[in-house]
Amino acid sequence: MSKWKPVRKAVFPVAGLGTRFLPATKVMPKEMLPLVDRPLIQHAFEEAREAGIEEFIFVTGRHKNMLEEHFDFQPELEDTLKSRGKFDMLEAIKSSEISENQLFLTRQTRPLGLGHAIWCAHKLVGDEPFAILLPDDVVLADTPCLKQMVDSYNETGGNLVSVMDVPREQTASYGILDTGKENGNLIEVKGLVEKPKPEDAPSTLSVIGRYILQPEVFTHLSKFETGAGGEIQLTDAMAKLIGSQPFHGYRYEGQRYDCGSRLGFIEANIAYSLKDKEIGDDVRQILQKYGSSQS
Ligand code: UTP
Repeated sequence: MSKWKPVRKAVFPVAGLGTRFLPATKVMPKEMLPLVDRPLIQHAFEEAREAGIEEFIFVTGRHKNMLEEHFDFQPELEDTLKSRGKFDMLEAIKSSEISENQLFLTRQTRPLGLGHAIWCAHKLVGDEPFAILLPDDVVLADTPCLKQMVDSYNETGGNLVSVMDVPREQTASYGILDTGKENGNLIEVKGLVEKPKPEDAPSTLSVIGRYILQPEVFTHLSKFETGAGGEIQLTDAMAKLIGSQPFHGYRYEGQRYDCGSRLGFIEANIAYSLKDKEIGDDVRQILQKYGSSQS
């Protein structure tokens, strides 16, 4: 039997300020912005559920109550939909419910950085491996990105971060890998640097918002050391695990969209709506209309 425990829990850090979407995010959390027909947080939740996750841990903050309410049971709405015979909508509502023994909430009172947000979940995670999904990173894939990672983790154990290649001029926006040997989709991680300048970046392989980590990362996070941008960085704590535990980058199959930026969010809406059975063809026609116009 493997010495690595299975991944049963996922942490969703949703306490950020979402300043790039102001004023839309003045009151409404960024994670509630809809990607076609469901909020970003629901896309992330469904991906985790499809990967076999059993416990969903939200790290929330001020003005974020809407996120937990979204996953609540809505009896009046369900009764109304039933009485009107809207069973497809009823199905859609049901798929956004998380039962009380599966949803756990904790708060990050000040947005001190992603590493700090993850640390806030340490009691709820306990002494077992866990996944992290950043809801503003979405991955359109035949097999959901986290499911690909869990399948790989079940073979290799240790720590896994999903990675993609970025243009060298963009390394200062990402956590970047110092890479070792490659074996299929797996790349040995020799080091991790948060937001290096292009000339200092050890590679152009960057970490995107899907992780599987061992609980030892909390030992490093609990030192509250600040890094790039004066924030408590998850990358710095992860880097300290290298050498004591296996650590791999995982080249996922699929297309990632950065829904934390306006352009990435718009592109994601186009890509996801083109895949939509009901509206995909119409969206294609609309795009052709704009593609051929000069203004
Ligand atoms: P971002 O780096 O996108 O930050 O966080 P942000 O505050 O949400 O957005 P901008 O840059 O101001 O527009 C990535 C993820 O980490 C969470 C965010 O909610 C998002 O899901 N996060 C970030 C926290 O939970 N707490 C933090 O202190 C920082």
